[in-house]
Amino acid sequence: MTTLDQTDSAALTARRFERMRPFGGRAAPDIDLTGLPPGPRWPVWLQSVGLLRFRHRFVPHMWRTYGDVFTVRVVPGGRPLILFTRPEHAKEIFAGDPAVFHAGKGNAILGPIMGEHSLLLQDGPQHQRARALLMPAFNGHALRAYRLMVEEVARDEVAQWTPGEEFRSLDRMNALTLEVILRVVFGVTAEARLAELRPCVNRTVNISPAVLLGWGFPRLRRFGPWKRTVVNAYRLDALIYAEIRERRQASDLVERTDVLSRLILARPEEPEGEASGGGCLTDEELRDQLVTLLLAGHETTATALAWALYELGRDSAQLARARAAAREGDDGYLEAVMKESMRLHPVIPMVVRTLTRPTTVAGWDLPAGATVGPSILLSHARGDNHPDPERFDPTRFVGQSPPVNTWIPFGGGVRRCIGAGFSVMEGVAVLREVLTPYDVSATGPDEPQVRNITSVPRRGARIRVG
Ligand code: HEM
Repeated sequence: MTTLDQTDSAALTARRFERMRPFGGRAAPDIDLTGLPPGPRWPVWLQSVGLLRFRHRFVPHMWRTYGDVFTVRVVPGGRPLILFTRPEHAKEIFAGDPAVFHAGKGNAILGPIMGEHSLLLQDGPQHQRARALLMPAFNGHALRAYRLMVEEVARDEVAQWTPGEEFRSLDRMNALTLEVILRVVFGVTAEARLAELRPCVNRTVNISPAVLLGWGFPRLRRFGPWKRTVVNAYRLDALIYAEIRERRQASDLVERTDVLSRLILARPEEPEGEASGGGCLTDEELRDQLVTLLLAGHETTATALAWALYELGRDSAQLARARAAAREGDDGYLEAVMKESMRLHPVIPMVVRTLTRPTTVAGWDLPAGATVGPSILLSHARGDNHPDPERFDPTRFVGQSPPVNTWIPFGGGVRRCIGAGFSVMEGVAVLREVLTPYDVSATGPDEPQVRNITSVPRRGARIRVG
């Protein structure tokens, strides 16, 4: 296995920028729009703004107006997006043939940042291979090994708080989950390297959709936010490739428990050179998967935690029960708190798949090129799925699970979130470290706001600890 020097690292970054264009530089394909499920006749731009900026009002409005299955049309090119809200329809989509229900294309906008090898961007045999190589780093055995490190990071964070202090819990949880990713996923513990990585990683996480959309126009990269993004990407890649290079040579590689070390050692089951692209992960693949895990796993978990603290801080009886669970080591109850937080406030609003062939879903004959997906937002808000759906009630998840495909914060099928177990483990560990010493109270109302792909608390889920 060859490794990289700095010049190679810069060349790889340049190649990624060259190859990864949002939407592949292609216009929207011609899709036959006749016979699609009902939807608004508004201009495409207005529907797109509704979906992308005001989804918490727009999507429920569509459901009330058009029913359980509806079509919205979005940019670029007025592509149809058909949303489903019933569990049996979610099941059909999750169980659909992965060769027909593609997920990677829908994430193409993330290409310049995540890279072509990213698990989120791949489909077919390449996705299958990458997933097989990544999965062992997220199984139950691996999670147990990460837990101690997560607890340590959480303890360090909480130790900085002072009784009576009020703050945006989202900001503190973001700082905490970033530290977890750097230590547990990247496996970096040297303070000097962490100090170099933190600002680069933060800038990567904060890239706006406008910058990504502008990527199709290479000339923009000489200006303003595009230029800063390019400079930062070269810097981050150099740091990551240096880390990979050093890790490959580390004498304690086999004893190390972080995700990167596990991925370096991961071996595919199929013989090398199979059609799926055999062999272990190259430096470029490792880089792309690390950045993917960083972007997929950091803000998502922080947001779920912030909502959990906010909801507990609004209800003294719920808080008392959760604090007792924290003190008694009742992780099952804290897990229920995390799950209910993700139900009431879905971090990601929907799961999407693009059809590669004409296909029937929920009795509707849909054309190739259409995008379909269960609405997580509506699945979690339906009273027939979750009685009294507006109420924060962790006991829904105590000693029972909601009916299958009614609680889908992590999507499903062959694309189900690879970090689902990780984020719940992390959430439980953090809640325990926070709630054992501290009472929390929410210091004002909050509501969801769209931030890129995720939905976050508009006011940062402010709490006071005491
Ligand atoms: C509250 C926390 C999280 C939420 C709500 C969440 C949600 C999701 C959702 C909805 C998907 C798409 C699933 C589908 O298409 O069916 C997904 C995929 C993914 N998530 Fe998460 N996620 C969370 C945390 C994490 C963490 C901690 C990691 C890793 C450290 C992670 C890594 C990934 C990856 C790599 C994928 C792509 C899987 C694939 O395409 O095969 N996520 N996540």
